[in-house]
Amino acid sequence: MSLPADDREPSRWTRDHVRRLERTDENTAPIIYPPTEKTDPDNHIWDTWLLRTPEGDVAEVDGYRVVVALTAPSDLLPGKRHDVATHRFYYSADGQNWTPGGDAFGASGPLGSRQWAGSATYDPETGNVRLYYTAAGVRDEAELSYTQHLAVAHGGSIRVDDGVHFDGPWHHESLAHPDGTWYEREEQSRGMIYTFRDPWYFEDPETGEAYVLFEANTPVLEGSDACGGDPAQQEFNGSVGIARASREDPTECELLPPLLDAVRVNQELERPHVVYREGTYYLFVASHRHTFAPGLDGYDALYGFAADSLFGEYEPLNGSGLVATNPSNAPFQAYSWLAYGHRDEILVTSFFNYYDYDRPSLDDVAHLSEAEQFRRFGGTLAPTLRLGVDGRRTWIRGTLDHGHLPTDGETLPETEDERVARRREGGDARGGDGY
Ligand code: FRU
Repeated sequence: MSLPADDREPSRWTRDHVRRLERTDENTAPIIYPPTEKTDPDNHIWDTWLLRTPEGDVAEVDGYRVVVALTAPSDLLPGKRHDVATHRFYYSADGQNWTPGGDAFGASGPLGSRQWAGSATYDPETGNVRLYYTAAGVRDEAELSYTQHLAVAHGGSIRVDDGVHFDGPWHHESLAHPDGTWYEREEQSRGMIYTFRDPWYFEDPETGEAYVLFEANTPVLEGSDACGGDPAQQEFNGSVGIARASREDPTECELLPPLLDAVRVNQELERPHVVYREGTYYLFVASHRHTFAPGLDGYDALYGFAADSLFGEYEPLNGSGLVATNPSNAPFQAYSWLAYGHRDEILVTSFFNYYDYDRPSLDDVAHLSEAEQFRRFGGTLAPTLRLGVDGRRTWIRGTLDHGHLPTDGETLPETEDERVARRREGGDARGGDGY
């Protein structure tokens, strides 16, 4: 049962948790090499999410699965892509080869001067599609602003003939703005990159209630005694927000207090989402090395927390929260991880970010020549990670190809560990090493 949400304290990600962070074989992904073909040669692709049913399963529409991704033309300098981000969709019959479907919103005029990450649902009973997104900036603004709010496009549907099409008319509605008490407003922000974004629709399987999770910041006002009154620490105030939503009414969105708070720990808890497995709620976020508060070291990584109810209390997975990161010689090779359940494991997709690049910070990308910035940016789906999971512990058990996103119906190949274990138990009928 979920708790009544209003007088609840958020769970905390603490400095002590983060001090335990360490790269190990269990959380470090193998090095990524460029694929022979990009998901979309005409566009950079970064944050990507699967079209899901309201219950959270990967949707299959007449045999196709669909992803929506942030995109920008591939001749644009990669670092500029956030300024023009557009949602495009891709579809696939086998979960491996993706066909570009075009601009997700067509000519319907989404909110914001560009659209940042979100989530997408398809209800097989009604055929309704909802596209949740971050309205970044304000439509038609003369100069780019960084204001953000949560929005939804509803009323559309999917049509399948010789391909997959998103049909309008889409109605764009604002869902939520920050309230200034639980969730920082832009004008309260103290310096680091401001966030109120990345709406993620989630239905609690134990109660059937609908919510939207999102990335936010906790207000820490100037002169407050939070973080020992240290302004340098007070800027780092990331949180995971939650709002009550509804399957019936796409515009319902009532802010509730945050699920998780990382004041004095980290500024950006990006793209929060939950995977439910047998009574445990796994809450995942992506975060960057450069957004950890002074005195803490972390990585560009997928971090995770687990609880026995949607409203917590959340404990960091693996003691520190670290679930999957990049190797030390390619620390920025992937980002914006998204986890989803697959049978007894969890799969994690992400995008192929900067490779052949091991400087301490992504900020140094700007010092490379433009040609090198293009050469070293992946801009396509990364190999999918396979996670083993047992209670509060996770480990990387293998990888699938770039952009391979299986549905539950698909049996995945045996991992190396499984093969060794099976052999040890004498389960290999051939008994030899002939394959
Ligand atoms: C993560 C992210 C998201 C945001 C998008 C903007 O990669 O920062 O939080 O919606 O990128 O491009």
